[in-house]
Amino acid sequence: MGTKFLWDFRFLLLVAAGFFIYIQIRLFATQSQYAERLATVVESENQCNSQTRRLIDQISMQQGHIVALEEEKKQRDQEYMQMKALVQDLEGKGIRSLTDKSQAHVAAVVIMACNRADYLERTLNSILKYQSPVAKKYPLFVSQDGSDPNVKKKAMSYKQLTFLQHVDSSPVHTERPGELIAYYKIARHYKWALDKLFYTHNFSRVIILEDDMEIAPDFFDYFEATAALMEKDKSIMAVSSWNDNGQKQFVHDPYVLYRSDFFPGLGWMLSRSTWDELSQKWPKAYWDDWLRLQENHKGRQFIRPEVCRTYNFGELGSSLGQFFRQYLEPIKLNDVQVDWKSMDLSYLMEDKYKDHFAQIVKSAKPISGVDAALKASNVGGDVRIKYKDQSDFERIARQFGIFEEWKDGVPRTAYKGVVVFRYRGPNSVFLVGPNSLKELGI
Ligand SMILES: *[C@@H]1O[C@H](CO)[C@@H](O)[C@H](O)[C@H]1NC(C)=O
Repeated sequence: MGTKFLWDFRFLLLVAAGFFIYIQIRLFATQSQYAERLATVVESENQCNSQTRRLIDQISMQQGHIVALEEEKKQRDQEYMQMKALVQDLEGKGIRSLTDKSQAHVAAVVIMACNRADYLERTLNSILKYQSPVAKKYPLFVSQDGSDPNVKKKAMSYKQLTFLQHVDSSPVHTERPGELIAYYKIARHYKWALDKLFYTHNFSRVIILEDDMEIAPDFFDYFEATAALMEKDKSIMAVSSWNDNGQKQFVHDPYVLYRSDFFPGLGWMLSRSTWDELSQKWPKAYWDDWLRLQENHKGRQFIRPEVCRTYNFGELGSSLGQFFRQYLEPIKLNDVQVDWKSMDLSYLMEDKYKDHFAQIVKSAKPISGVDAALKASNVGGDVRIKYKDQSDFERIARQFGIFEEWKDGVPRTAYKGVVVFRYRGPNSVFLVGPNSLKELGI
């Protein structure tokens, strides 16, 4: 019994030992499994850490860049301020050297250019031909809108002029559908160039030309004489070298000038006092139409010649082909060297002009009827024809072939509603509005 018990006990012990060993083995297996997993976790954690380190490295490197860029910006700003001061200094010197001679200036002459280098060359050659002998009185500028390299190169190749460049890349927002961005850019360019000449360069008058114009031999004498007139008579808003009805068949006398309520444009002279006013409210686009609004005139007029002192050869660009052939190509460019200094222009002064003009209108023979143009050519002297309204005017204008267009209630070239042009030689035709005679006191 005792032995059996012992044997049983040993057997149990053996089983227990076996079980213990088994447990140990399992434990070991589990442990090593865990250890493996742990190793993987540690490894991946290490990997994460190194990634984080890399990121941190990158961030600090970027911060380094930022600091360097900030440093650079500071330096650039400083350089910019220095350059700006230098430019201001130079401009100041430029202005002083220009204003030192300002007594001798009649007007600055500016050619508005954009991207037509060949046109600009033709214009410049025409202007320099007559400007060179009077260059001191008429400092010459070319103002380019944009950065066409050929125009810039062309302009810079002339030593006789100062080159201005307007580069404005800010976007244009047209106000109505179908409008061309070009008209907005042109208006901006005009404002910029005129501000530059009147305010930076301190000129008291500026003559504005475009890059597709030729000028007459007496162009500069004409503007010198009318500058004096403009100085004396503040009711003259600007002087133009252009007559809209200046085609060969409608002009005769190169000595005659007129006042007009219609802004003729195309080769015109403006004084600083007028620019002070216009600059403030300059329109975003269509500046010439805007300048034809009567509210902008405040009762003032423009001076225009009978025979044009500028010729517009630009068939391309903003002038349409058909328009060019009908109205611009047949323009008579004056070829007579008029001695404007010796001319008495006092008849153009506000206080005299109305009576002067009334007198010539009054002495013209009144004619009427549907075949006015035919009658006018048979009468053989000055005639006047009344029109009832705009459409009646257009009908008569069409018979003669003059401009039909009106702007803000005023026909082109009109003075107090009267449009005058020559017909078959020296005879004048006056198209007289419904209120014209009353306004002229006839
Ligand atoms: C600008 O010109 C006017 C004369 O037209 C003169 O009185 C004025 O002092 C000038 N201004 C400068 C800054 O030179």
